[in-house]
Amino acid sequence: MDKIRIIGGVPLRGAVEISGAKNAALPLMTAALLTDEKLVLNRLPYLADIITLANLLATLGCELSLHTNRRDYQENRSLTLHAKRLLSVTAEYDLVRKMRASVLVLGPLLAREGKARVSLPGGCAIGPRPIDLHLKALEQMGAVIELKEGYMDAHVPGGRLKGAEIQFDKVSVGATENLLMAASLADGETILGNAAREPEVTDLARCLIAMGAKIEGLGSDRLKITGVSRLHGATHDVVADRIEAGTYAAAAAITNGDLELLGVSAELMQSVIEKFGESGVLFIPTERGLRVRRENGLMHGVDVMTQVFPGFPTDMQAQFMTLMAVADGASMITETIFENRFMHVPELARMGANVTVHGSSAMVRGVPALKGAQVMATDLRASSSLVLAALAAQGETVVNRVYHLDRGYERIEEKLAACGARIERIG
Ligand code: UD1
Repeated sequence: MDKIRIIGGVPLRGAVEISGAKNAALPLMTAALLTDEKLVLNRLPYLADIITLANLLATLGCELSLHTNRRDYQENRSLTLHAKRLLSVTAEYDLVRKMRASVLVLGPLLAREGKARVSLPGGCAIGPRPIDLHLKALEQMGAVIELKEGYMDAHVPGGRLKGAEIQFDKVSVGATENLLMAASLADGETILGNAAREPEVTDLARCLIAMGAKIEGLGSDRLKITGVSRLHGATHDVVADRIEAGTYAAAAAITNGDLELLGVSAELMQSVIEKFGESGVLFIPTERGLRVRRENGLMHGVDVMTQVFPGFPTDMQAQFMTLMAVADGASMITETIFENRFMHVPELARMGANVTVHGSSAMVRGVPALKGAQVMATDLRASSSLVLAALAAQGETVVNRVYHLDRGYERIEEKLAACGARIERIG
């Protein structure tokens, strides 16, 4: 199993290409199931989760081909998906259990084929993460869903979903995306109230519009979708990964370096820019993206609470905690989106961080320096927080179980090494 070895203490300098967002690319790929024409996705991040979903789509009969070319200053990976005819409507357990986002095939399959059989995703390291909101809303659109042998067995009597007025009890990114896709091909009008406003949801809506969907209210918590009888092919650029950008911003800050994040804009990450700003880290817009460095050498403890967009993202919580672990003063970090998302705390403690968890809050008291140690990655964002800690720590850190990292960060050791980090992957 791969490990990453890092010798800390080098201020990172240079430019980092920000990839397309994993969390946008995954739903965009499932949107290909809605049409018998080709969907081309540019700026596709090349990640383990993307490959898992590509394999799942292939088992349904979708043809996929990947091309690489250069565009502007970035390498552009472009994926063509062609679901001319679907050969199966079953998403098997072996693929779904690897990645929860597989559940995003449910809405498109029901909308196009009137039936779907999708394995329940099962447990997940960051809390129970149910999918009740997805199911309830699809039932409101006329789907009949039964649980059989660990699978959600769904069909639509009459074959076509019907528009409905849906008010989500809780904001869910995945449920909003699933329903946006389902409603695009349904009969009549659907309203999604209390919808997620994350940029990745808006990116999906933009792509669906390019495919012929009628969607109003982009970027708001109320989306109105007027179903159409068919969608056509399109070409779409995946939005930049604001979480990857935030992670590299944290790398610049924690090493007291200076990095330019290429291809990302400030409006994608206002809440992160604000919190980093309060703690003494500047984001300066440039022609190619954003430049990040400390304002005057110091970082201060700041409180933060994770919230749905436009609030501070839960996917940046672990990385921000690592920054706070070496900031001057104390910081209270409250997680409101997921239960059990402090698994990085005991690992950070092994490196000398002073963090006390009380329920959904963590009190972080800054220490002058972290120290290298053997640590273990437990989930995707927890892994990146350990890499950040290692970049700042004195001595050598070995991060074990980095397959979590490969699910969400493209060529992370290459990108960091190009900015001066002493990092290598070891077998
Ligand atoms: C997406 C992101 C993930 C991010 C999360 C929150 C993808 C592939 N993943 O996950 O990186 O951390 O948004 O920004 O885009 N919930 C229910 N019932 C449901 C669905 C969700 O109770 O049917 C709860 C979840 O347990 C969680 C909260 O709602 O507590 C938010 O989850 P949701 O927004 O759905 O997250 P995902 O779409 O799974």
